[in-house]
Amino acid sequence: MDALRQKYIDAIANVADESTLEDLRVAAVGKKGEVSLKMRELGKMTPEERQVAGPKLNALKDELNSALSAKKAALADAALDERLRSEWLDVTLPSRSRGQGTIHPVSQVTEEVSAIFADMGFTVAEGPQIENDWYNFDALNIPPHHPARQEFDTFYMNRAEGDDRPPHVLRTHTSPVQIREMEKTGAPIRVIAPGRVYRSDYDQTHTPMFHQIEGMAIGKDISMANLKWVLEEFFAAFFEIDGIKTRFRASHFPFTEPSAEVDIQCSWVDGQLRIGEGDDWMEVLGSGMMHPKVLQAGGVDPDKWQGFAFGMGIDRIAMLKYGIPDLRAFFDSDLRWLRHYGFSALDMPTLHGGLSK
Ligand code: DAH
Repeated sequence: MDALRQKYIDAIANVADESTLEDLRVAAVGKKGEVSLKMRELGKMTPEERQVAGPKLNALKDELNSALSAKKAALADAALDERLRSEWLDVTLPSRSRGQGTIHPVSQVTEEVSAIFADMGFTVAEGPQIENDWYNFDALNIPPHHPARQEFDTFYMNRAEGDDRPPHVLRTHTSPVQIREMEKTGAPIRVIAPGRVYRSDYDQTHTPMFHQIEGMAIGKDISMANLKWVLEEFFAAFFEIDGIKTRFRASHFPFTEPSAEVDIQCSWVDGQLRIGEGDDWMEVLGSGMMHPKVLQAGGVDPDKWQGFAFGMGIDRIAMLKYGIPDLRAFFDSDLRWLRHYGFSALDMPTLHGGLSK
């Protein structure tokens, strides 16, 4: 029994991993282990012999079991120490730099404008950039041979011979969204619609793709006075200038009657434009009371409802607010320009937090 004890105590001391230790446990005190087999022999002994051998064998079994579990704990400790040593990480090292983009002025200004109109109860809608000519023209009271069709420098989609679908265009303005929204929700309605529009034109202030925002409010007693208040409220919030003056000039659009072009107060000092001061004027949008035919085209009864509408260039008011001189640079994807004029992703424009930082 002493030899057996010595054999296992030495073996346990020399084990270096848990699975060899488990093999040893099975060989010594497992069901068919050497100690267990010895215990079975107790039955064949005389009672006197058994009284001596029994307690000794039990003591041996206990001793081996506690040596095994002590060794098991020691191996686990050693394994943890090894992991802590090998998986060590210096959390004080500077992190790898990550490229960070900026928010484009068009996106920023679209958010700013949406926040202001949302505060006045307008929802935000979108329409398709490829329109058929009914939505882009006819429904807006611009019949086929109306001169306004030519003025728009429209991009027409190519049609295969025999294709008899109505002609499609890249929308020349966001006004067709007026019709789509009237069809969708009927009156009353208060909605703005920002988005891309297209015209075949290119110089310092024109690009073939640019951005507009359409506004429309239909109700039982909507008037020009509501239009003027809403726009003045908007410009004061957008340019962050209280009491900014606007000028409504009589104009003509097929889809409004009466129609007005709206200017905001500005001045030129040493070739520098200043918004909201002085006695010059800068044109910023077209507007008016919605033409009865337009309401009708959208399925709204012009005998019951009336509304105002306006259309404004997003790029243009972005240039005015942030002093950006050339429209074409908006769409050049020049990283230096984007970093200079772009906005931090964390500067979300809100009315209470400030529209721009
Ligand atoms: N759609 C016009 C344009 O692109 C702008 C416009 C003028 C929109 C008057 C309107 C409006 O809603 O009432 O030139």
